[in-house]
Amino acid sequence: MRNYAVIGDPVEHSRSPGMQNAAFEFHHLGSPYGKYHVRPAELGRFVEFAKRELAGFNCTVPHKAAIIPYLDEVDPDALAAESVNTVTVAEDGRLSGTSTDGYGLEMALRENFGVGVEGTEFCFVGCGGAAHATAFHLARRGAGAIRIANRTVEKAEELAAKLQKLFPALTLETAAPGDRGTLSRWFTRTNVLVQATSLGLKPGDPPPFDLELLTPDLKLAVFDTIYLDTPLLKRAKELGLPAAGGSAMLLYQGAKSFEIWTGLAAPIEEMRAGMEGKPSC
Ligand SMILES: NC(=O)c1ccc[n+]([C@@H]2O[C@H](COP(=O)([O-])OP(=O)(O)OC[C@H]3O[C@@H](n4cnc5c(N)ncnc54)[C@H](OP(=O)(O)O)[C@@H]3O)[C@@H](O)[C@H]2O)c1
Repeated sequence: MRNYAVIGDPVEHSRSPGMQNAAFEFHHLGSPYGKYHVRPAELGRFVEFAKRELAGFNCTVPHKAAIIPYLDEVDPDALAAESVNTVTVAEDGRLSGTSTDGYGLEMALRENFGVGVEGTEFCFVGCGGAAHATAFHLARRGAGAIRIANRTVEKAEELAAKLQKLFPALTLETAAPGDRGTLSRWFTRTNVLVQATSLGLKPGDPPPFDLELLTPDLKLAVFDTIYLDTPLLKRAKELGLPAAGGSAMLLYQGAKSFEIWTGLAAPIEEMRAGMEGKPSC
């Protein structure tokens, strides 16, 4: 059996090997999933290696867009989002790519908040690779509205324009995270806030927007793509708003990758334990 891996720069912190190997072990397939530290300039060389040695790999930062020119086939939404996190290597070395981040978010929202996507109104803060991949998925699955606030407003506007072209009936709005009036108006009518900036990863990071805009009367579930207990999540919990971090999203995006590669059912609880570094029982 050929192997699998995650590539990134950095990649040391990745929880994917623990999670994926738990799934392979559950199906008595050994522990074929490793990790490779691949710097941007090394991506081409890694792809040649992968064609010979691997059956599939996950891409994390900074390779999710950069991998696309190397692929023979790309799922249309992943291509539009310019974000691929799952690559399958066929026996003849042909590469096909897709993104499972949106599925991961959808399942995380279902698990954490009991919320489905159809008709649900979303507000993103942040507009990088994670927001792109997940926004296309949510739009495809029938989201009622997608509102995007980003430091670089032009990026939010570009994403909204791409989404509008593919999904003409979707309600789309954009703003700067510092536009308190607009955010406050959005929060009163939005069902789920998705924090998709990298702010909150490092201690001392500023909040992604003025957290005073969150109030206890809101009917807003707060999802932070970051796995840590960020100041945003702490504030949301203090106010009694439903709040969850990004672990379940990581889990379900990995589960979908496993199913794409193997055609086997992903053993969710074993993968969750593997992701958390616990022995599965
Ligand atoms: N749970 C999961 O499974 C999962 C999966 C993927 C990603 N994530 C998380 O999602 C987050 C975003 O990842 P990504 O791949 O989308 O990263 P990315 O492409 O680098 O995008 C980063 C985003 O953060 C914003 N940002 C960065 N520094 C900022 C600052 N000082 N002030 C305001 N905004 C700032 C950027 O705004 P500009 O556009 O203005 O630069 C951009 O919107 C990360 O925290 C990552 O850990 C989680």
